[in-house]
Amino acid sequence: MKYYLTTPIYYVNAAPHIGHAYTTIAANTIKRWKRMQGYDVVLTSGTDEHGQKIERAAAAAGKTPQQFTDIISAEFQRQWEILGLGIDRFQRTTAANHAAQVQDLFRRCLDNGYIYKGSYSGQYCVFDELYVNDAKAGDPCPECGRPTETVSEENYYFKLSAFQQKLLDLYEKHPDFICPETRRNEVLAFVKQGLSDLSISRTTIKWGIPVPNEDKHVFYVWFDALTAYMSAVAGENLWPADLHLIGKEIVRFHAIYWPAFLMAADLPLPKQIFAHGWLLFENDKMSKSRGNIVRATPIHTVLGTDALRYFLMREVVFGQDGSFSYDALVGRYNSDLANGLGNLASRTLAMIHQYRNGVIPACDGNQQIAQSVQEITAIVMECLDRFEFSKALEGVWSVIGAVDKYIVEQAPWKLAKGGDPEAKRLDEVLYTAAEALRIVTATLAPMLPESAAKIWAQLGFATPLDAVKTADLHWGHLQGGQKLGLAGAVFPRADVKASIEKMMELEKSEVARQMELLGQKPQPDPVAAAAVTASGSPVITIDDFGKVDLRVGLVKDAAAVKGSDKLLHLHVDIGEAEPRSIMAGIAGAYKPEALVGRKVVIVANLAPRKLRGIESQGMIVAASREGDVPVLASFLEDVPVGARLK
Ligand code: MSP
Repeated sequence: MKYYLTTPIYYVNAAPHIGHAYTTIAANTIKRWKRMQGYDVVLTSGTDEHGQKIERAAAAAGKTPQQFTDIISAEFQRQWEILGLGIDRFQRTTAANHAAQVQDLFRRCLDNGYIYKGSYSGQYCVFDELYVNDAKAGDPCPECGRPTETVSEENYYFKLSAFQQKLLDLYEKHPDFICPETRRNEVLAFVKQGLSDLSISRTTIKWGIPVPNEDKHVFYVWFDALTAYMSAVAGENLWPADLHLIGKEIVRFHAIYWPAFLMAADLPLPKQIFAHGWLLFENDKMSKSRGNIVRATPIHTVLGTDALRYFLMREVVFGQDGSFSYDALVGRYNSDLANGLGNLASRTLAMIHQYRNGVIPACDGNQQIAQSVQEITAIVMECLDRFEFSKALEGVWSVIGAVDKYIVEQAPWKLAKGGDPEAKRLDEVLYTAAEALRIVTATLAPMLPESAAKIWAQLGFATPLDAVKTADLHWGHLQGGQKLGLAGAVFPRADVKASIEKMMELEKSEVARQMELLGQKPQPDPVAAAAVTASGSPVITIDDFGKVDLRVGLVKDAAAVKGSDKLLHLHVDIGEAEPRSIMAGIAGAYKPEALVGRKVVIVANLAPRKLRGIESQGMIVAASREGDVPVLASFLEDVPVGARLK
């Protein structure tokens, strides 16, 4: 039985971060779970490397698109290796095997009469690679808010309009095609409104897969990218995919365009699309412009990958948005992993080492505990089948809680002092704890593979945890007489402050390393330096702003500067012993006499410099658009001289 699942093919315009890791970790969890159920699982990830967005990112980095994409694609592969995410096929859209697949899909759709030539004249969003039909020049993109650009070009069109009913039939016949329900409803509503034909080629871009028999056309990135799911497993009998795992923002492409392309080409459709929610950083969208991007590798180095996996799977309800913060991450690590699971494992194993010489006693275990573990484990398995990871983990932790309570109630340390008469009861307690720990560990393997493998080895199993199947999750499989392995702490307690500082420090060096790979100079504060606002200016911190000393000043006198038609020389009182001498390029907008007695704003801590031989001890603040005359900043209410603007 095969199970083929995919992550999105990530854009290479930016290096991988925790958001990409989130999807890929979830995919790896599902892979492990399906494997436990007996499937032969293949997981594909990859990089989406064509299009104008990438072309421009490469140019900005001073690289050719190929050099640039090679670097970032390798970063994604490296990232998944470091995190141990078991990617079986990594498909790059610039790989030779892929172009042929895209061209083949095109030919099939063309031969079946679903492609025609047309033209488009109007607004285009480069970021989303999207035609914005009803927009006027300068209008923002409805998806991302960035300004659209005016284009006029000939295109190949895909007859998406012919697929409205076919898609609605598909969603009806396969209610699980789009999950969760909220996403399915969104797609249904969208398709019911009617579908417009879709342009699938571009002539304004060079960096793409050429359309057969055309010199100017390359494929639209989504026609190209979606096909990567097939290229990755071409000739392997793995298509159709059983699951496309994606983030909620790309549902439309996967649930509407993709099945329509495949239907038009007479190719089998994927079985399911699951769209998870957004991972926010402290409730804010993570983005380069906000400078709040978190990378996964520093977390891996400081707390281990399982800490990140646990946090993401437990804290965020899969399908909904969730928030990441370092505090919450370390908090969960200490309370649930170090104290919860780690503590159960270490106390159980330590007692068996101490009271039974490291050999698991033969026994059936406590039947009440056995039954409750069986029941909860069955529920946990159902949750995993529905990708309800958070609920599944809650279930496992309720077992951990119940066993902890049982141990405290039975007080094995007292039984151990009771000698032979209590030996049987002590055996029962030890076996019960060990068997519960075995089941908990095996159930957690898809979510916490590294730590579960460690506990597994400490329980003394010679067979690897990866070989465990769901049938082994039944009570009683643990054999008495098994010798435990070497004990050791699986989740050492983390010092909150020190570990957060370390992760943040590593985050900075990771950004610097990536900038260096791209031939860019590391900045003093790379996180802030990498960030720009929507209008293109760099994002600064409040501390940065605080460095600028803006003061209210009163113009005492103003005079023209000999030989300059732009400059005026002013003396401005900002409440200091002497008025400041300030040169200002406002002669085109203000007569000197009109300025005297006026309140203005000056930058008071600018390093002094000489202009036309006169020292300027500050700068006057004025607003202007490119080419317009400057307008001095002023106040409606009265404000005292020397007041600081903050
Ligand atoms: N290249 C397209 C996908 C083509 S698939 C045929 C693309 N790439 S992307 O680099 O922007 O990756 C988007 C995906 O990365 C999301 O759908 C999601 O899986 C993951 N995430 C990136 N940032 C994320 C968050 N902040 N939160 C959750 N997932 C996010 O779109």
